[in-house]
Amino acid sequence: MNRLRVLIVEDSEDSTLLLLRVLRKGGYDPVHLRVQTEEAMRAALQGQKWDLILSDHDMPRFSAPEALSIYQESALDIPFIIVSGAIGEELAVAAMKTGAHDFVMKKNLPILIPAVERALREAENRRIRRKAEIELQERYREIQMLSGKILSAYEEERTRLARELHDEIGQTLTVINMDLQYLQMKLPLLERSVQEKLTGSVTLLRQTLENVRRLIMALRPPSLDRMGLVEVVRDMARELGSRAGLAIEIQEKGFSTRLPVEIETALYRCIQEALTNTVRHAGARQVQIRLERNSQRVTAVIHDDGQGFEPNKLNHHSHGVGLAGMRERVNLLHGTLQIDPVPGKGVRIHITIPVLDETSA
Ligand SMILES: Nc1ncnc2c1ncn2[C@@H]1O[C@H](COP(=O)(O)OP(=O)(O)OP(=O)(O)O)[C@@H](O)[C@H]1O
Ligand SMILES: [Mg+2]
Repeated sequence: MNRLRVLIVEDSEDSTLLLLRVLRKGGYDPVHLRVQTEEAMRAALQGQKWDLILSDHDMPRFSAPEALSIYQESALDIPFIIVSGAIGEELAVAAMKTGAHDFVMKKNLPILIPAVERALREAENRRIRRKAEIELQERYREIQMLSGKILSAYEEERTRLARELHDEIGQTLTVINMDLQYLQMKLPLLERSVQEKLTGSVTLLRQTLENVRRLIMALRPPSLDRMGLVEVVRDMARELGSRAGLAIEIQEKGFSTRLPVEIETALYRCIQEALTNTVRHAGARQVQIRLERNSQRVTAVIHDDGQGFEPNKLNHHSHGVGLAGMRERVNLLHGTLQIDPVPGKGVRIHITIPVLDETSA
């Protein structure tokens, strides 16, 4: 026999006994409590665990709709079945709409057992689904935490590499360059072949210095920390624009104070990815970047006039990680990212990130 903890909302002793008999005949071992007032119902829900609620519709001091609303306040999930002698079709439908799981007429009690079985099964399914949803949310939170850690480790590592390249290699190469230029100046009478070698070395060194500078910028521009987002985006646009033959227009508004470093980094990386994508995939001629900040949020819109792509491509997992990485960075800062590709017309990326303005706090 299946033990069943039943809360019976009923004024009649006889009806209660009848219900218990039907449950026993249906293979259950009911442990019950009968309540017939609001207070008793509340106390029963708070004090004990229940597998099932069976409620009469009209009682002298209570009713099924009142019992239902107390049950709903409790936020518990217990199958709630109305068992009534008098309830009409309309009232029954209304009760189901407000959250009863089923209703059974007292004159048709044989269908109580199938109704109870179904309601218990559905409650169990809801319980399993809730558990799975909670687990899913937990896994998602873990993954978010992990990706936040990975992204900040990525930034830290790149900052460290950029600093090392700048301070160690960059500085040393600069000194060697100066020494070689000094030699060039001081030894004009050197044999021609030696002069040529020296000139070659100076040229090579300048190129290497330029490469190191570009590498530092690609890793993480030191100017991002020094000068802030707008200046760095301008630098990036200037460099990329001239290298790729793109006209990049920048409009900015409201950047009189600096943003938190994690927002600047995220926006910088998103704009960097959007521009890299434009150069690699778009065949565009023009890009517009609009940056706007107010006391609540910062917005970045990057719009190219290239070939765009089919919107449904966004749903297919392409092998690229650029757009997904953008979304991840923006999500971690509780922002929104909207990617609007229009085939033949270009791509528009709209990013909004909430900002807590210290001056208005
Ligand atoms: N501005 C754009 N214009 C045209 N197509 C684009 C543009 N941006 C992205 N795409 C398309 O969307 C795809 C996915 O972009 P995503 O940045 O995620 O990956 P990727 O650039 O191919 O590789 P990754 O960024 O990982 O190096 C691209 O392969 C390209 O087909
Ligand atoms: Mg990309």
